[in-house]
Amino acid sequence: MRALKNLFDNNQNWAHRIKEADPDFFSKLSKQQSPEYLWIGCSDSRVPANEIVGLLPGEIFVHRNIANLVIHTDLNCLSVIQYAVEVLKVKHIIVCGHYGCGGIKAAMENQDHGLIDNWLRNIKDIHRLYNNEIDSRENDKEKTDLLCELNVVEQVANVCHTTIVQNAWKSGQKLYIHGWIYSIDDGILKDLNVCVTNPEEISQIHRIK
Ligand code: CO
Repeated sequence: MRALKNLFDNNQNWAHRIKEADPDFFSKLSKQQSPEYLWIGCSDSRVPANEIVGLLPGEIFVHRNIANLVIHTDLNCLSVIQYAVEVLKVKHIIVCGHYGCGGIKAAMENQDHGLIDNWLRNIKDIHRLYNNEIDSRENDKEKTDLLCELNVVEQVANVCHTTIVQNAWKSGQKLYIHGWIYSIDDGILKDLNVCVTNPEEISQIHRIK
């Protein structure tokens, strides 16, 4: 018996349903992809990019990692951004966090989690920037929720600081960087209203002339 037969069965049904709605769907898609959006989200299984925003294969380019971080030296994430911006010419980059993020929660603890602490360290650095604001919140849930939001704001800035995005703006390419947060409790997305559209909106020290 084939391992994970249920998943292969699901796949057959899924491909069949799509072909029923549009017989040429896969043949068209196999020739090219032209997504308008790059999604940078958390790896959390409860936050699937395509489903949340109701998009089909081919419509959104996706990068996911624990706690949706954009780290200046992460070649994986930077390569995704470069390909999305320079080759696919996406118009929107969406950094989407989510409330109750396990990565954020773990970063707020003082425990040893192993290797992953080196990744979560980036979130602790953000916490330190906003210590007072976070400490003023009533309870642990509110503190975590706030850091989930602030993490998105900081990652949006990190996307904007990349030479990839700045060079795209410089060359006149329209590129909008958005910060959103998703609620696992009710499936609803919230716009954090931190959209950045040009280099004048980023901090002076990060601007490349
Ligand atoms: Co998460």
